[in-house]
Amino acid sequence: MTSRRLVLTRSAAVIGAASTGLLLPEIVRAQSAKVRVGFMLPYTGTFAQLGVAIENGFRMAVNEQGGKLGGREIEYFKVDDESEPSKGIENANKLVQRDKVDVLVGTVHSGVQMGIQKVARDTGVLSLIPNAGVHAATRSLCAPNVFRTSFTNSQPTRALGKAMVDRGHKKAVWITWKYAAGDEAFEGFKESYTAAGGTIVKELGLPFPQVEFQALLTEIAALKPDAVACFFAGGGAAKFIRDYAASGLKDKIPLYGSGFLTEGVLDAAGPAANGIITTMHYSDSLPTLRNGQFRLNYAKTFRLQPDVYAVQGYDTGLLLIQGANAVKGDLNNKPALYKAMESAVIDSPRGKWTMSPSHNPVQDMYLRVVENKENKVIGVAAKALADSGAGCKMA
Ligand code: PHB
Repeated sequence: MTSRRLVLTRSAAVIGAASTGLLLPEIVRAQSAKVRVGFMLPYTGTFAQLGVAIENGFRMAVNEQGGKLGGREIEYFKVDDESEPSKGIENANKLVQRDKVDVLVGTVHSGVQMGIQKVARDTGVLSLIPNAGVHAATRSLCAPNVFRTSFTNSQPTRALGKAMVDRGHKKAVWITWKYAAGDEAFEGFKESYTAAGGTIVKELGLPFPQVEFQALLTEIAALKPDAVACFFAGGGAAKFIRDYAASGLKDKIPLYGSGFLTEGVLDAAGPAANGIITTMHYSDSLPTLRNGQFRLNYAKTFRLQPDVYAVQGYDTGLLLIQGANAVKGDLNNKPALYKAMESAVIDSPRGKWTMSPSHNPVQDMYLRVVENKENKVIGVAAKALADSGAGCKMA
């Protein structure tokens, strides 16, 4: 009874306001309403820590700018996507249809991203990808409302092959989880390693997120390559590093990877990680003021060391702030919003980067080595590396 009366009273008030031309305050209120930001990230499973780092980084960027987007307060919504591709569309719809978010920030896992991509294309919601590197998102299925602040899966490994050959490793085994991220990372590795004169003697894999590596490590020992290259990340990466050392391979066959292998796992992996060389668009030890300030603020705020995922979350916040400021908080002004985001220069802890025409970062790739629980930069493996954007009709 009470709620029905309330509804009647409210509608009577609206009719009254309309007849006297007093609807204006309603409109003003709608424009100054909070921006609804939805995080669709893994908060459980092997990528749980990655999801948390992304959210932390995003919030930190926004809080450094006074906690607002284009002058508007923010309301956050969260969905744990569990890195489960079969629930990708349903979970994205929880944020878009149920929570009516203005912006969807997600996710980590390439398979889950394909669900978000479908919902983003179907509904037009602004979709910011803070990690997942699946090629299609900024190639064949690219869309004006989808922006990636991280990488494509083949970007880091395209910088890896030459670095390995330069170190004298001409025969390599590749090992990964068999799903889009691992397969596309292999594409980049294969291209760069063979172009530099290397030979891939075997491609090994296991389903995501399995971590029973023993049989595969035994196979590597029998193959005796000059080096091993891989894609693993999160909890599974920490276990792979430990198992690789425990099996006695570490001192015989050097381990390389895209830098995800050694991101956020150096405490868990311990000394087994020392000496691993990787390529990545970030390094803990980048000697810039920007990186130093970022790392200090992050450590103070969250009592954690930041990693590449925190940087990507932070940069997602920076990108959205630039877009929202350009349209003074009116995120419905899509042409101006997208134009501002397309032309943004992101002053990131990783170094300045820009958007490619298909909305993926054009960025430097660093060569790093693990020393005393830090990814130390030892060189630039590729300068201003852009993904091909093949198949994207948007540009
Ligand atoms: C992906 O699934 O695209 C993915 C996941 C974790 C990473 C990198 C890529 O660290």
